[in-house]
Amino acid sequence: MNVDPSSIHPLATATADARPSVLLVDDERTLVEVLAAVLAAQGFDTTVATSLSDATKLLQSLRFDAVVSDVLFDGREDGLEVLGATRELQPHAAVLMMTGRAEIPAAVAAIKKGAIDYLQKPIDPVVLGATLSRVLEEQRIAAPSLGFADLAGILTSMVAHTIERVDPYTAGHGARTRKYCRMLGQKLALDDRSRERLELAGIAHDYGKIYLDDLGFLTKNGPLTPEEYEEVKKHPLLGARKLGTHPMLKEVCQFVAEHHERWDGTGYPRRIKGEEISLPGRILCVVEVFDSLATKRSYKEGWELPKVLDFFAEQRGKMFDPEVLDQFLVLLEEHGDSWLKAPAAARAEAAAKKAAGHG
Ligand SMILES: [Fe+2]
Repeated sequence: MNVDPSSIHPLATATADARPSVLLVDDERTLVEVLAAVLAAQGFDTTVATSLSDATKLLQSLRFDAVVSDVLFDGREDGLEVLGATRELQPHAAVLMMTGRAEIPAAVAAIKKGAIDYLQKPIDPVVLGATLSRVLEEQRIAAPSLGFADLAGILTSMVAHTIERVDPYTAGHGARTRKYCRMLGQKLALDDRSRERLELAGIAHDYGKIYLDDLGFLTKNGPLTPEEYEEVKKHPLLGARKLGTHPMLKEVCQFVAEHHERWDGTGYPRRIKGEEISLPGRILCVVEVFDSLATKRSYKEGWELPKVLDFFAEQRGKMFDPEVLDQFLVLLEEHGDSWLKAPAAARAEAAAKKAAGHG
């Protein structure tokens, strides 16, 4: 990523996903851009600065997991200043120095001031990537407590596994729904706050199933009777009620309650329609139906892409908000084949884990 430091808004986040973010600082632009490209291919989110002042502006504006800086800039040891700015502005970030042979004493001095290590030029980008991965992993393991993202990840997978325990056909359904919700939410320019809550609803939308009186419906061999279907239809409101009353969960509960509502008002439980359903609720509806179609059940196989596309075309403006659906279809053009294979792969993985005694 090449960023003009003057264009950055305060408190912007360097990464939109979980990729480690790295700021590379060197006055040799070509060198630093090559390093950035190779690191990006290795899964890092890279940002480049070619001067101390650019680096400082970026450190004031974006969050980085690591900073890699040359020691010498135009004959001055500005690398030590980059280290100082990082220690002051982003004390959590790991700092690696890059140095020529003549500046090794300066690099050693940098380590005394808090740099993790130094690499001698010419830098092998693959070695740099491996060093960064090692350093960041060591930092993560040594962290005194779990971060919010770690906790959220652990708890959401516990919720997902609980749902999958009562409905084994849904192996990985929550995690996939969350991922597709995030991507579709981004495509529809959903603000970060709503998107985060939508992602939680993506994981927890079927949470109410664990509170159904008769869980046997969920593993029944064959389609449900009308009476059984009426029982299962209770799960959106049950889930919304049982998720909790924390104020931060208010919208999550709303989206969970809405996930079986339909654009034309034929859904359940409240039969609301159109924009009476929140935008995240309409997103969750499209995504959740897609993954359900892709999933094999006791009474049906997972659908192939042409059949899914025919169904979506037929239900555009009926079950689904047309604008939301159209954006999802754009995602399917790129990811449709792999997303349709994902449920079977997750079930095979869950079965293998179970057979190995880990399930
Ligand atoms: Fe559901």
